[in-house]
Amino acid sequence: MVVMGSSEWHWDERYREREKVWSGEPNRVLVEEVAGVEAGTALELGCGEGADAVWLARQGWRVTATDISSVALERAGQHAREAGVEVDFQRHDLAESFPEGRYDLVTAMFFHSFVDIPREEILRKAAGAVAPGGRLLIVGHAGYPSWHEGERHEHEVDFPTPAQVVEELHLSDGWEVLVAEEHMKEVFRPDGGKGTRHDSTVLVRRSPS
Ligand SMILES: C[S@@+](CC[C@H](N)C(=O)[O-])C[C@H]1O[C@@H](n2cnc3c(N)ncnc32)[C@H](O)[C@@H]1O
Repeated sequence: MVVMGSSEWHWDERYREREKVWSGEPNRVLVEEVAGVEAGTALELGCGEGADAVWLARQGWRVTATDISSVALERAGQHAREAGVEVDFQRHDLAESFPEGRYDLVTAMFFHSFVDIPREEILRKAAGAVAPGGRLLIVGHAGYPSWHEGERHEHEVDFPTPAQVVEELHLSDGWEVLVAEEHMKEVFRPDGGKGTRHDSTVLVRRSPS
């Protein structure tokens, strides 16, 4: 399936279709993997409506959060104001521009797109943005949902395994792989019934020196 239109147009339309696209809750794996980590600076890629960014800010992280969609970012900003936290929201098409600086935590949570994106290249930039001693957390889908029968999006057919995600980061020496695993979760299907989905988690840490 070929999706017409730019990434920005596509995602803005997707967000305009509904007042709220995501649950408003932080991703479970983010909470599990980051809850015990000392807060510092964090960069989030593809932050959507901001639930993860707000959760991180509430834990004391100084958060920069990016997305291609200004519709999503407006909602994320509203979410942060309601929560009484500050987040530096920046609009980037990460295929074209990338936030400056180095961060103690960089996250890419379900950074998938119906419009083709140079995901591996962006994730390599994400690794480059990790400060010494910092972590990169990448959570993504490892396959289509159990109920999926329709057309498959060309670039999503090969969902990378956790090992492939690690390999594609082209990490040099001085990185430690803390987690590289798949897990299954129960999710609600669009019709309200229950289904399952396989996701993958990759967490790597850059050595402190
Ligand atoms: C599947 S959503 C995940 C949103 C959020 N991280 C979550 O877990 O709920 C993917 C997000 O990536 C954003 N995105 C897609 N392509 C992008 C690009 N080229 N640059 C920046 N953000 C992009 C979309 O606007 C969308 O908000």
